[in-house]
Amino acid sequence: MASLEAYKHTSPDSGQPIIIHPNFNPKIRNWNPPDPLREEVEPPKDRAHFADPSKKALFSVAKAVDLTEGIGTLLEGVQLSQLNETQLDELALLVSERGVVFFRDQDLTTESQVKLFEHYGILDKHPAQKEVRHVTIKGSSSDWRRDSVYTPWPQAGWHADTSFEINPPSYSMLRMEEHPPTGGDTAWVSQYGLFDALSPTYQKLFEELHAVHTSRLQYDTILDLWGVGPNRPPIDTHHPAVRTHPVTGLKAWNVNEGFVTGFAELKKAESDRLLDFANFHIHSADDQLVRWKWAVGSVAMWDNRSVLHRVIPGKYEAGSRRGVRTTVFGEKRM
Ligand SMILES: [Fe+2]
Repeated sequence: MASLEAYKHTSPDSGQPIIIHPNFNPKIRNWNPPDPLREEVEPPKDRAHFADPSKKALFSVAKAVDLTEGIGTLLEGVQLSQLNETQLDELALLVSERGVVFFRDQDLTTESQVKLFEHYGILDKHPAQKEVRHVTIKGSSSDWRRDSVYTPWPQAGWHADTSFEINPPSYSMLRMEEHPPTGGDTAWVSQYGLFDALSPTYQKLFEELHAVHTSRLQYDTILDLWGVGPNRPPIDTHHPAVRTHPVTGLKAWNVNEGFVTGFAELKKAESDRLLDFANFHIHSADDQLVRWKWAVGSVAMWDNRSVLHRVIPGKYEAGSRRGVRTTVFGEKRM
């Protein structure tokens, strides 16, 4: 918080920092992103399309334990590093169906994780990511509810990774290298379940809408709060608020708290109220949620098209949590 530009602009009445417009914040105004906006790409065919629906190659070496009815499966007795291409394809299908798949005590290294993930497509580069092929995920003990008073981006809110891109990511994998004994859990919520839980009338309403996904709020916030310069300029993209998953054919909700600022077809007041409902709908979906307790060597692989996720805020020492994430581009949302 001490690094916030906002803290240099203190309200004389309250003694508290005041929010300032990006144009008046020199950290934001003076930053020139080194990379251009990313153009639309045609990613290679999703590996899940090549999988045997019974997944017998994968299940011949791994025991599957479903953690909830609708989302999350733990695969036991298997090392990801030992899976062949057929089994990796079946894993993609399982991830598309179950949203997120977990592993314990894995022997992957950053290098072998990157190599494994290249099987699934073109590796994504996060807007604030310096390494080209993976991103380091750290812990945070800052109170995001407090930070959010002074920063515009609801960081630590529910999101699908970089959902504002023209080609938002499909699969992501996070492997934990350091972790505190408690704190730092991650939760995932099913976007199939979020759609199913709506009344038919609301299902129809959302199916007619496009959600505005933006990186602008993240862009401003990470420059001011994190002191990290984003690689690319901010972008706004309209994505369908409900989409049909290209692998499973199931309808999935496609709205998230972290990056969606409204609905393109609505007027502002309508959009704001519907977005309030959307965020409430996500936050109240305990029956569509799985929460994962990490340990060193744990791995989660999820499908950003069928789940949202968030890190659970905690009071642990931020430096005691470090993971490596790899991500591949998905198709343009249709
Ligand atoms: Fe994330």
